[in-house]
Amino acid sequence: MELFLLMVAISLIPSNAVCHRILMLAPLGSWSEYQLTKIIARTLTDAGHSITVVSSFKPSTQDELIEEIYLGKSVFEDKNIFKLDLISTSTFVNDGRLAAADKMYTNKEVLQLWRKRNTFDAIIIYSAGNEIASPFLIDYTGTYIGLCAIGIENFQILNQGHRLPKSVVPFLLMSSGYHMTFWERTLSLVVETLLYNFAYIFMLPGIQQKLEEYFPGHPPVLDIYGNYSLLLINSHFGMYGPVPLLPTQVEIGTLTAREPKPLPEDLEKFMSGSSEGVIYFSLGSLAKSTDIPENYKLLFIEAFSQLTQRVVWKYEGDDLELPKNVLTRKWLSQQDILGHPATVLFISHCGMFGTQEAKYHGVPVLGVPIAFDQPRNAERLARSGYGEVLYWDDMTVDKIVKSINKIINDPRYAQNLKVVSSALKDQKDSPAERTVWWVEYAIRHRGAPHMDYAGKHLNTLQYYMIDVFCFLALVLLSWATLTYFCIKHTLRKLYRKKNKEE
Ligand SMILES: *[C@@H]1O[C@H](CO)[C@@H](O)[C@H](O)[C@H]1NC(C)=O
Repeated sequence: MELFLLMVAISLIPSNAVCHRILMLAPLGSWSEYQLTKIIARTLTDAGHSITVVSSFKPSTQDELIEEIYLGKSVFEDKNIFKLDLISTSTFVNDGRLAAADKMYTNKEVLQLWRKRNTFDAIIIYSAGNEIASPFLIDYTGTYIGLCAIGIENFQILNQGHRLPKSVVPFLLMSSGYHMTFWERTLSLVVETLLYNFAYIFMLPGIQQKLEEYFPGHPPVLDIYGNYSLLLINSHFGMYGPVPLLPTQVEIGTLTAREPKPLPEDLEKFMSGSSEGVIYFSLGSLAKSTDIPENYKLLFIEAFSQLTQRVVWKYEGDDLELPKNVLTRKWLSQQDILGHPATVLFISHCGMFGTQEAKYHGVPVLGVPIAFDQPRNAERLARSGYGEVLYWDDMTVDKIVKSINKIINDPRYAQNLKVVSSALKDQKDSPAERTVWWVEYAIRHRGAPHMDYAGKHLNTLQYYMIDVFCFLALVLLSWATLTYFCIKHTLRKLYRKKNKEE
């Protein structure tokens, strides 16, 4: 009887009743990346887990269930990314990285957390450029999970020992699409090799040294930093084309996308009052529209005044003289506008989330990329027939108007987006369910051999069997040489015999 009662009691406990303590580390990252971290944190708290987040963004009051540690202002916060090029991008990220390490390991709360790290069942590190979080992995006995916010990215996939075919997956910052030409493949390989082998390896000792200042005897950063059992990837094959992944590399893309909610009354009136549709213009959160150089602002205003559509512009200032068909707001709920039936075009810098959300809601995009992975995202959109790209260097009023009209008047863009939108809305489980399931799974099977890819323990020569090919070539060569001498020897003998007989 007691056993029966016990069994009944056990069966009444919901299967997800185990509450895990999870630590999310995102000391370095943009506002959008922080948003992704928070959305994952919320997803996990909804599933009953308790989450602690370390980031460079002030915690909002609305998330009482998430414990947040604020490291002070992010290097990204006050940066005008209109003034960045490729070189300054990487030094800016690197400087930011070292500064963030100082902020982290002089922070009492962080140090206390560091001492208690083994009380967490899992540590999730937003894993692009957050090598400075690796001290948390020293002697860590829980489950380490990586988060790849930027989408399919060769190096983070490689950390698990899996080499993606470079013929199909271009280097992150390149604008090549899914189908690359010969020259694009060449360029992608060269740029990636140079940037990785030189720039990254050049930066690593600095990071290592910085960490050793705070943690003497810190193990080689890459050994522990790349050692995650599970990698959550912010992408979906419906958007960028299928790529071979390990079972422990899980796509959770479109986590930020959701069905639209009703807009505030005045905005709703402005949008649905437009018989020609509405254009939504936003440069996201990392780039501020107020940072747009003055001459470009005037170009956009002039272009907008020539349109029959209405324009909703996320603009943080109120210094502009605007035509009647343009409305600006300091903040706009992007999902609700993109999902609004009146929206016909999204003018976007093509950050990761905006791009995903445009696809999810099926809105064509005029990409105006500025820096980082944005040119790539924009080019990929254009190549897939989801929009057009306009570069700042050759922007004119005429070109803005023409590009807008081209996209709005050609139904093919909207049709292509309908296909991808329905692919993104047709998933077996939601990205949120997938995230929760895999995080819990990784915690349950911590360090299990079936989650460890053998490729991780092979070097590049071994992985591509170059050592085996060399060995086989050697065997073949020895065999050929041996055969050659044998035949030569036999023939000579035969010849001599013949000579003697004569
Ligand atoms: C990497 O992680 C596995 C468990 O997932 C662990 O057994 C191994 O010791 C770790 N390696 C290093 C260098 O920390």
